This record gives sequence, structure tokens and C-alpha cells, in this order.
Amino acid sequence: LREHEEFTKVKNIATIELGRYEIETWYFSPFPPEYNDSLKLYFCEFCLNFMKRKEQLQRHMRKCDLKHPPGDEIYRSGTLSMFEVDGKKNKVYGQNLCYLAKLFLDHKTLYYDVDLFLFYILCECDDRGCHMVGYFSKEKHSEESYNLACILTLPPYQRKGYGKFLIAFSYELSKKEGKVGTPERPLSDLGLLSYRGYWTRVLLDILKKHKGNISIKELSDMTAIKAEDILTTLQSLELIQYRKGQHVICADPKVLDRHLKAAGRGGLDVDVSKLIWTPYK
Ligand code: ACO
Ligand code: ZN
Repeated sequence: LREHEEFTKVKNIATIELGRYEIETWYFSPFPPEYNDSLKLYFCEFCLNFMKRKEQLQRHMRKCDLKHPPGDEIYRSGTLSMFEVDGKKNKVYGQNLCYLAKLFLDHKTLYYDVDLFLFYILCECDDRGCHMVGYFSKEKHSEESYNLACILTLPPYQRKGYGKFLIAFSYELSKKEGKVGTPERPLSDLGLLSYRGYWTRVLLDILKKHKGNISIKELSDMTAIKAEDILTTLQSLELIQYRKGQHVICADPKVLDRHLKAAGRGGLDVDVSKLIWTPYK
């Protein structure tokens, strides 16, 4: 029976409790077999250990001394903080996070090899601690110039601009590394919408400032967005013409303004002056 369930990926856990939220899950996640007969799991919001019974969680909370993710705080602005967790130094946390994230990610295979990843955990902080809002993972070394492997905003926090904040953050790290980056494929529908939104807003703002007199290479150098992603974004906005075997940007100010109006909210900005980080060696 279990083999069959794993094969067809029947959703197992229906809801989770995490901090002050009860959250309905979206997809199957391969929790260890002893958890698979539970409809609900209880997570410690700080160390992300999960339990089958509320009393176990209550007992855990009395002795768990974490009040934030186990790692370095690399960004703080107002009540928002970002923590960097090394999967090699915090294996159990990394695995717990992957189990949790898979409940909301359809197409991703679960990484058991958390050693190879860094996890960037976005938190809203108050006097009770730093509460996870979402995260992204990043390979320590990517051959394909991926600067983000998986991204998640927990459902109670979605549609508030945190996704675009996380995406912006991943590009700020790439800028500090002096590299261009791109998200791992495939993207989910919501992932693609968020990236399209981010790329569109960033590129339109620069094109507007430079009155369109700028090349794709220059845009890529300024933003750390991979040239292919710039090209597809500008093509979808119909700002690219193909002349003499070359893609050229044709940014009519009126067209730019029309797109900028349609581009929607800018969202939460990353204040780079508050990022204290050096690339992984
Ligand atoms: N319906 C329509 N558009 C949406 C929706 C929605 N439910 N959610 C997000 N969007 C679009 C909008 O264009 C939105 O911008 P707008 O609000 O200015 O119009 C844009 O995406 C980004 O919105 P944010 O509020 O910044 O993003 P959010 O915090 O909701 O996070 C994310 C986006 C991370 C993709 C979230 O939906 C999520 O966690 N989904 C489940 C996991 C997932 O699919 N992750 C991406 C997988 S791909 C990868 O990991 C490489
Ligand atoms: Zn705990």
C-alpha cells in the first residue's frame, strides 16, 4: 500500500500547525513512514521539528530554546530579518525545512542532500521571536549559474510582496558574488508569475531611467539577471526587435509608461545597506 501511495503521490498530511497558524497543505511530501498516518502535524516554528500530537509540541516548546532559525542573521530592516542556514552545519533543520516546503511545492524533488545548500529564511520578528514567513534555498556551487533552487512564502503570508522580496534578495547575493543568476527550472505557475513580475519591474525602471539607451549585457551587469531572462522578459513586453541578426531594445517612452502602470506594486524593497554578507567559500 505504501509503495502505491508513494507512486501516486497521494496527499498525506492535510494540515499543519506552525506558530500561530493552522495551514492547509497543497501537495504530497515524503515524511518518514511513521508520520504518514497523521492528518495533521505540529511543527515547532523555530527548529521546525514536527510531531504527531499537540501535547508533544507543547512539551517540546517548553524545552526548545531557539527563538530564530539556527544560523547567522545577515539582514535586518525594521521587523524583517533574514537568516542564513548552512545545510551542512544544520542538517536536521535543513531536512525539516524541505519536508515542510514540499507540502507547497509540486514539481520539486526533495533534496536529502541538504549539505550542498544554503537556506535563506525570511522572518518577521517580535518580542516572542523571529517567525518564519518564507525562504529560498541556494546551491553552494552551481554549474548552471542557479542563484535560487526553491522559493516558498508560507500561505498565510502570500500576496504581500514577500515572494518578490525573496527574489530581489537572491539577486542582491548574486551581485555581491559578481555573478549573474537564474532560478532553477522548472518554475511553478506562481513562481513564474512572481519572477515575471520582478524582472519586469526591475528592467522597466532602468529602461525608463536610461531612456532605453542600454544593451542587454549592460542590463545584466546592473541587475545580475541572466541575459536570457532579460531577453524573454523584454520580448514578452514587445520591447525587442531583431535587426541585422541582433536583438535590440526598442523602448518607446509611451510603451514603457504603459507597461510601468500595468506592472503593479513594487512590493517590499531590499535595503542593501542592511545586508551584511560575504559569499560562501
Ligand atoms: N494569483 C495570481 N497572481 C499571483 C498569486 C496568486 N495567487 N500569487 C502571486 N502572484 C503573482 C502576482 O503577480 C504577484 O505580484 P502582485 O501582487 O504585485 O500582483 C507576484 O506573483 C508576487 O507576489 P508576492 O506577494 O511577492 O509573492 P508571494 O509572497 O505570494 O510568493 C511564491 C510567491 C513564492 C511563488 C508563492 O506563491 C509560493 O510560495 N508558492 C508555492 C511554492 C512555489 O510555487 N514556489 C515557486 C516554485 S519555482 C522555484 O522554486 C524555483
Ligand atoms: Zn523547537
